[in-house]
Amino acid sequence: MRPTLNGTGFMFEVLDEFADDFIHYAGTIPDPVLEVGCAYGVATLPALAGGARVVACDMEQGHLDILTDSAPAEQRDRLECVQGQLPGVDFEAERFGAILCSRVLHFLDGSAVDASVRNMYRWLKPGGRLYLVADTPYGIWRKFIPVFEARRERGHRWPGVMIALENYLPNVPPDRPIKGPPFMNLLDADLLTRTCVEAGFRIERASFIDRSDFVGLGSMDGRENAGVLAIKPR
Ligand SMILES: C[S@@+](CC[C@H](N)C(=O)[O-])C[C@H]1O[C@@H](n2cnc3c(N)ncnc32)[C@H](O)[C@@H]1O
Repeated sequence: MRPTLNGTGFMFEVLDEFADDFIHYAGTIPDPVLEVGCAYGVATLPALAGGARVVACDMEQGHLDILTDSAPAEQRDRLECVQGQLPGVDFEAERFGAILCSRVLHFLDGSAVDASVRNMYRWLKPGGRLYLVADTPYGIWRKFIPVFEARRERGHRWPGVMIALENYLPNVPPDRPIKGPPFMNLLDADLLTRTCVEAGFRIERASFIDRSDFVGLGSMDGRENAGVLAIKPR
């Protein structure tokens, strides 16, 4: 795991099956693809290497500078870096054949999650693929599971909204502030599915993702992340 420059957690250097699928698909289509929240390019760089045309977007210009420097010179004409932040960043309608947004949406409040996914729907061509991955309460935030599940039981629309993050991390004394975002909005496959369906997508696949390869952060159970592959109907 490689720390971000802006306190938004880590970029995973080991890809999951949703990112792998995005990278493979990106190399098979003529249309450009978009990675939002690309950090240092963990998915963008292999997609470029596979022949894709990639727009890499991140709120942190420092990440994009490192990504640009890492891209092989002969591939840079297929890379465009855009500094921008969900939900405000915008792209032209029907520009992309696929979009990957991995481990970013959980930094947004519910209305911003919905607005971002509606925008992604607009940015995709008909038939385009959206790959979303998000943190769940079942990874490093396990102390939050009882709150999440009780809220779900009560029908709360966004059960994963969590403030005072220091109270929910392993190995951190309660009430000792940590450097990080002011809140998280932990998600699962059902919540990602609902957001995509409400935006107009058809769901191809939705599941938990086993990231028990997180090390040193307490016991994990194979539900650390959640992912969805959603298709914009033709
Ligand atoms: C936890 S890292 C995930 C990096 C990589 N996508 C992965 O899955 O390992 C979050 C990344 O998203 C970026 N980010 C966070 N919130 C964002 C937002 N609202 N809009 C765009 N980028 C954002 C951060 O700067 C950081 O690079």
